[in-house]
Amino acid sequence: MSQLRKSILERRTSKPVTFSKDSPDLQLVRQLIEIARNAPNHHRTEPARFYLLNEEKIKNIGQLYGELVAGDGSDPQLVERGKKKTMEWGQCPGLLIITCHTDQKSELVQKKPEVVEENYATCCCICQNLLLLFQEEGISSKWSTGPVWKHPQFSKTVGLLSPEHEHVTALIFYGKSTNQAPPRALSPIDQHLVDYH
Ligand SMILES: Cc1cc2nc3c(=O)[nH]c(=O)nc-3n(C[C@H](O)[C@H](O)[C@H](O)COP(=O)(O)O)c2cc1C
Repeated sequence: MSQLRKSILERRTSKPVTFSKDSPDLQLVRQLIEIARNAPNHHRTEPARFYLLNEEKIKNIGQLYGELVAGDGSDPQLVERGKKKTMEWGQCPGLLIITCHTDQKSELVQKKPEVVEENYATCCCICQNLLLLFQEEGISSKWSTGPVWKHPQFSKTVGLLSPEHEHVTALIFYGKSTNQAPPRALSPIDQHLVDYH
């Protein structure tokens, strides 16, 4: 089987708590981001922005998400869940945040509003490219959309380049893990494919 087929079939979401403490080689991660950017992109808008967080920023993001989950602190279950998220996220060895940049007021979007969705599609392609490249290198990952961006401190903590035009596509937690889940069985293709041949 080709490496690409193998990577697609074997890639599974892994829990950040199963990642070992040592972070994967940063040069390699940067290289993989660079490769992953090569995705289909209508109008060549290059919408993805990448924020490769260091240990301190990962901890801060974990703290923010924990606060958000805990809410006003009146529900002990949520407070407990918030503490768990702060640990789970904050102690992850690697976190890459990918945002989708679209200027809604630009001439292009005014003329073609579908660019908003097309940009998001490109960012999603880039995310999957990256997960597969990680898989190939033995790096486990989790794509999360835990809505930490709702925290008022999120934008400043990450240092978003143009917060008014960026939406988070993915928080990609990554690290080395021996805890790989088995391939996932999907429902039969005939339920989803209309083939007129
Ligand atoms: C857009 C997107 C958002 C996701 N957000 C979350 C999330 O917030 N929390 C989570 O546990 N998993 C999240 N996932 C991972 C999915 O739950 C996971 O892909 C799914 O359970 C299938 O498992 P697999 O990736 O191992 O095949 C997300 C995946 C995608 C594509």
